[in-house]
Amino acid sequence: MTNSASQPSRYYLTTPIYYVNARPHLGHAYSTIVCDAIARRKRAQGIDTWFLTGTDEHGQKIERSAELAGRTPEEFATAISGEFRSLWKQLGITNDDFIRTTEERHKRGTQKFFATLRDKGFIYKGSYSGQYCVSDELYVDGPVGTLCPDCGRETETVSEENYFFKLSAFEHKLLEFYEANPDFMGPESTRREVISFVRGGLKDLSVSRTSFSWGIPVPGDEKHVIYVWLDALVNYITALGYGSDDPADQARFAKFWPADMHLIGKEISRFHCVYWPAFLMAAGLPLPRSVRANGWLLFDQGKMSKSRGNIVRAETVQQVLGADALRYFLLREIPFGQDGNFSFDALVQRFNGDLANGYGNLVSRVVNMVHKYFGGVLPEVGAETEAETALRESAAKALAAFGPAFDELNFSDALKSLWELVAETDGYLTANAPWKRPADRSEAGHAALQARVLATAAEAIRIITALVYPILPESAAKVWQQLGQGEIATAAKQSFLTHLAWGGLKAGTKFGEPAPLFPRAEKDAIEQMQKIEEQNTKTVVEAAAKGGFARKSETATSAPAAKTAVKGAIVSENSEKQASAEDVPVDSVGAEPVDEAKGYETLARAAKKSAVAVAPAVPAAQTPAPPQAPATPAVAEPQYISIDDVIKVDLRVAQILVAERIPKADKLLRLEVDLGYEKRQILAGIAQYYEPEKLVGRKIIIVANLAPRKMRGLISNGMLLAASLEGGAPVLAGFLEDVPLGARLK
Ligand code: MSP
Repeated sequence: MTNSASQPSRYYLTTPIYYVNARPHLGHAYSTIVCDAIARRKRAQGIDTWFLTGTDEHGQKIERSAELAGRTPEEFATAISGEFRSLWKQLGITNDDFIRTTEERHKRGTQKFFATLRDKGFIYKGSYSGQYCVSDELYVDGPVGTLCPDCGRETETVSEENYFFKLSAFEHKLLEFYEANPDFMGPESTRREVISFVRGGLKDLSVSRTSFSWGIPVPGDEKHVIYVWLDALVNYITALGYGSDDPADQARFAKFWPADMHLIGKEISRFHCVYWPAFLMAAGLPLPRSVRANGWLLFDQGKMSKSRGNIVRAETVQQVLGADALRYFLLREIPFGQDGNFSFDALVQRFNGDLANGYGNLVSRVVNMVHKYFGGVLPEVGAETEAETALRESAAKALAAFGPAFDELNFSDALKSLWELVAETDGYLTANAPWKRPADRSEAGHAALQARVLATAAEAIRIITALVYPILPESAAKVWQQLGQGEIATAAKQSFLTHLAWGGLKAGTKFGEPAPLFPRAEKDAIEQMQKIEEQNTKTVVEAAAKGGFARKSETATSAPAAKTAVKGAIVSENSEKQASAEDVPVDSVGAEPVDEAKGYETLARAAKKSAVAVAPAVPAAQTPAPPQAPATPAVAEPQYISIDDVIKVDLRVAQILVAERIPKADKLLRLEVDLGYEKRQILAGIAQYYEPEKLVGRKIIIVANLAPRKMRGLISNGMLLAASLEGGAPVLAGFLEDVPLGARLK
């Protein structure tokens, strides 16, 4: 339940801010569409609404993704953030603001927030030695080698001097707060999970990092950057004006804070329901009124995410069926708070069944008949018979059911009840058949029936349309015009949802021209969408092979959506040393660990690999070392790997066909190698030890399943094996016997 009742005059709601390591997909569109529908409904109820979304641009994950794409973090973030912004436009999202965490207003506010926590004694300096999951930007409890409890990826050892937030001081305060505010977080599963996490004990939280620099510097100690989750959460207040001296900003902050609702994905509830309230309590600021977690959109059995490579883009659906179809499908098909499957089949079924044949067909029948029988002018309804009374009562029932269900975020039930009215109105039309005059009915009697039935059905449509407007804004706007009601946006500004009583459609109203709302999806709609997605994947892969962002001119022309895509998918955030040739001069010496996430992938999967967190588990607390203790370096314990780890590395015999120096790169050679089944280019840092001409014809061993990467503007697709001698000199591995090209080493 939202707490709008306590503050009916204004409403502030937010989406999570999206990481810019990945281009937007349907999973991101889902939360944004939900928020948009809520914002539209609030505004149409006359509530002064502020709807915020934005992008989360700092942190190690983004820094690495940018590096891998051969871009500066700024360029990378700007490009992907632009993708989000333009997608929201395409989907008709009505956010009032879009914040980027790299903006000055955010940096200023975040530094002020950090300084406030420090001044109030809630931040102290200590040292941290423990595990960190870069993908989730999360401290993880456990020894070296612990996998991230959220996403299952390998964690990295962090051992550095950090600032700590006294989270432990808030354990009881938080529990008291949850108790006193039972509506603060939901659904129930989230509430239970969060409470049990806090009851399990809270440890102080490291809130700064020194081992990378892509973040907001700690004020007064600039070698530290502020922990990306602290930086990200503060966006909800910096966007309103926290930290600004401008009176207009201060007024906005005073007006809209605290937020009425933070809408989030379920896996980030701990950050929003534990850390964020604790930070705010420490800063002496009011807490948000509610946090609501949506479930995951699943595709092909798993959470839709770039790292799984199972994404569908919102643009694809929008292009083929329109944005409203997507909005309707997501809100109708998935009970809010639960995971839900996305499938093209189900989407097209809903489109044809509920929209084209349901609402769309009903509107078209009525508007066409008003034109045909009454010259497009709504007739006087006349005296009500039992049938009209029944429909009027059904409309009142739908009206009474829709609002509370919607406001409880139970969109699916709200739509279901409204579609019962669609079906009843349709049945009412069919039963009364205004298009057919039986022989025993006079012409005047028939005209009266036509007037009564069409005016009544049109009134039902008006109510349906007003209610569904937040979910189907484009289509509702068309229907509003056809009903002769003018601009729906104007009606929304006049709070039309607060006066929807039966009888609003007046006789004499001139109807607009009939126009199709949802042309039935063509037979090949599914194939069309699949093709666009395939084409897009191909484009992304080509872009990855070219080293990162595709230029627009390089994208396929047959898929319009693909043309606008920024190709940021080439991220392998698990790699510790993904860098340019300058940083990784000796690519051939087996310095690069290969783990599952970096293991064998087709180019397509490599291009899709990235960083979205997955599992819902109650996460482990971080374990900072006691305050002021000297940093403990990670002890290098012998690390055993299993046979499964070994076979993940695809070692193959290859023959060097071409070897040449690269201008201005002293250490690198460009090799073309033959694997028997394919030829590839590999860049190897062996130029100081091998004459290129002597290498041609030589058989070598390569790691064939290393994700491609770019060095000096060239793609390197694989890695040579060599022994590394003292001083770094490499000696290439090879065979005494003759071995066929492509043979696998086991
Ligand atoms: N940057 C953080 C949020 C910071 S908020 C102060 C983050 N970013 S994210 O890009 O990884 O995820 C943003 C939101 O998208 C999350 O709420 C996440 O749950 C949501 N989704 C990403 N994939 C999703 C699905 N497949 N299904 C539903 N929501 C999904 O976390």
